[in-house]
Amino acid sequence: MSHAPGISQFWETMAPERRDPLAAAYAQLGRELAELAPDVIVAFVNDHFRSFSLAGYPTFCIGIGSDHDVPMEGGDAILRMPRRRFKGDPELAGHILQSLMDDGFDPAFSGELKFFDDLSVPLRFLFPPDAPVPGVAIVPIMTNCIARPLPSMRRCHALGVAVRRALDRFPGKPRRVAVLGTGGISHWVGMPRNGDINADFDRKVIELVVEGRVDELLSWTDDEIEAQAGNGALELRNWVEAFAAMGQYVPRPLAYVPVIEAITGCAAIALDPIDVSGIGHRHLAEGAAR
Ligand SMILES: [Fe+2]
Repeated sequence: MSHAPGISQFWETMAPERRDPLAAAYAQLGRELAELAPDVIVAFVNDHFRSFSLAGYPTFCIGIGSDHDVPMEGGDAILRMPRRRFKGDPELAGHILQSLMDDGFDPAFSGELKFFDDLSVPLRFLFPPDAPVPGVAIVPIMTNCIARPLPSMRRCHALGVAVRRALDRFPGKPRRVAVLGTGGISHWVGMPRNGDINADFDRKVIELVVEGRVDELLSWTDDEIEAQAGNGALELRNWVEAFAAMGQYVPRPLAYVPVIEAITGCAAIALDPIDVSGIGHRHLAEGAAR
């Protein structure tokens, strides 16, 4: 599910042939999420120089706060959406943090993450802003997708696997967990090709996901991705992490639209888990833009 600012900024004036299929996909995801009634959404997102700067930029950062303002102060005017305060889940986030440490990752952590389009745009469409703030908690996991050097796609996949392992061994009161991955697909941010969309690249990514060939995504270098689909496509890391955290799943593509108003290829993909535990948990993941 795309998170480029323009999706929200220009939603009202977006051409119907582009907005309608996205609106239908987002509405479906929102309905399915409501039916699943998760206690928490583990959200793979990325900072856009709002939480961090080059004074110190973490590769991975776990959001351990007890609540999250979505969007950050001032983001409401730019993104044209109301600010809402979602709950965090410090107990689960703290467990994920410790579990990742035990598994050989060394993520940063923060109780004061600032969310711009990365989390705000998906949540705007999954939870309509005119409805009461949902009770679901958010555990954000940020990955550096913008300030090179970036963690490799394979490292991001390994992180997603480790997050799943953490969820599976959570010793606290069981949670129903949904997974959200948001970033990409093609777009160029602050670059000469700003405004371009490589729909062929985007459809190739979706094809690989649908055919269960995510391994091929992991072999792409940042230079290759950026040359074909812009620096914004480097956010595919969030998708890869979500896929890994899901474990076994059946991908269900809901929409793909090259949205010129948002200067981004926008996709929405649901991931239906293959229930191997018998518990009946169902997770939801989305791939998206910017
Ligand atoms: Fe982004």
